[in-house]
Amino acid sequence: MVSADLIIRRIAQLVTCSGQAPKRKQALGELEIIEEAAIASYKGKIVFLGPDKEVEKRVRPAAGAIILEGEGLVGLPGLIDPHTHLPFAGTREQEFVLRLKGETYQELAAKGMGIQTTVKATREISFDRLIDLCVERLNTMLLHGTTLIEAKSGYGLDFETEIKQLEALKRLKEIHPVEIVPTYLGAHEIPPEFRQIKTGYIQLMIEKIMPEIKRRNLAEYIDVFCEEGVYSIEETRVLANAAKQLGFKIRLHADEFSALGGAELAVELEAASADHLINITDKGIAALARSSTVAILLPLVPLFLRLEKRPPARRLIEAGAAVALATDFNPGSSMTESMLLILQLAVFLLGFQVEEALQAATINAAFSLGREKLVGSLEVGKNMDLLLCSVPNYIHLIYHLGLNPVRHVFKKGKWVVKDGKISFS
Ligand code: NIG
Ligand code: FE
Repeated sequence: MVSADLIIRRIAQLVTCSGQAPKRKQALGELEIIEEAAIASYKGKIVFLGPDKEVEKRVRPAAGAIILEGEGLVGLPGLIDPHTHLPFAGTREQEFVLRLKGETYQELAAKGMGIQTTVKATREISFDRLIDLCVERLNTMLLHGTTLIEAKSGYGLDFETEIKQLEALKRLKEIHPVEIVPTYLGAHEIPPEFRQIKTGYIQLMIEKIMPEIKRRNLAEYIDVFCEEGVYSIEETRVLANAAKQLGFKIRLHADEFSALGGAELAVELEAASADHLINITDKGIAALARSSTVAILLPLVPLFLRLEKRPPARRLIEAGAAVALATDFNPGSSMTESMLLILQLAVFLLGFQVEEALQAATINAAFSLGREKLVGSLEVGKNMDLLLCSVPNYIHLIYHLGLNPVRHVFKKGKWVVKDGKISFS
């Protein structure tokens, strides 16, 4: 018998996503489902899951335990979004409209729009207002089932604003239940002050900004936008190696618009992830397949930017790469907080199976953030990060579009979304 302070009974289907992480090839599609299930936790950790008929023999409710009826609901691990640009100011709908009329992302960037617009707005916004914006966004994420995100700076490109963005993430971690893994993305663009002397900015990041971020413990990862006209392979290598020397781990924006070999570089650097990969080459696919670097696919981006190409998801999965999914939430190329939308796009546009999409957004996403021992699946000993969705079975999460089926969310055993409403204070 184990003691539990939270017990959920008679869940129609419990999707566990349990097993070895990361899941590759066939294993990505092998989803464990417990029909008519119960799950219980104590002090935020799962202590039991299994058929409901076993729960009374195995679990003793502690005094004051919450016991919830799961009839008609499907349970699954909290969704994990391993690539977001959460702390930004302003939106970019004008640029979006120009793209609908035929201009390209790069053409608009060359005219001074794009990332630079958001940099200006983010430099101007106050710390408190930035926090307010992020709280709203995190609430939306939570209401749609996301319980852990990675979040990048990169809209400051100067010392003060990058630190402001990262300090905001630190503060948000203290006040909001969505867990945040912070990343410094100083190398997201070339700041206007350094247009003619990029090397000066690279030096500033390496010698001043990164050491200060480390000293204040504000980021776990460093990311670089490795792209034609932004940071070359060699510049990315220099930045990433300096970051590793300081004790940071690496993520890369790789092979998004051009096939520079960002995926191969990510593997060489033993990066945690290589993200985007719309233009990854066969060599890049082979390199990822042999590595622990996770291929993070962002299926809204090619739609949002009206690109013809899609990341070669099936070829990555079949080659044996560890694949995860993310929103890339940002005002320029992917304006959504919803991981469920991303799962649906992965199925409809990238050729994922439903089961593959679910595991790419849970256990594999957790692995890419080094959190696979704590979250990403429902298993005894892991955190009670659980969604209960109002659907007849898990396939409806993808099949029935345009709704938000998330009814309840538990984060480390705390009931943070109740009947579709935020319920923490
Ligand atoms: O991941 N590719 C670079 N960065 C973002 C876009 C940022 C923006 O347009 O504001 C991305 O798509
Ligand atoms: Fe991004």
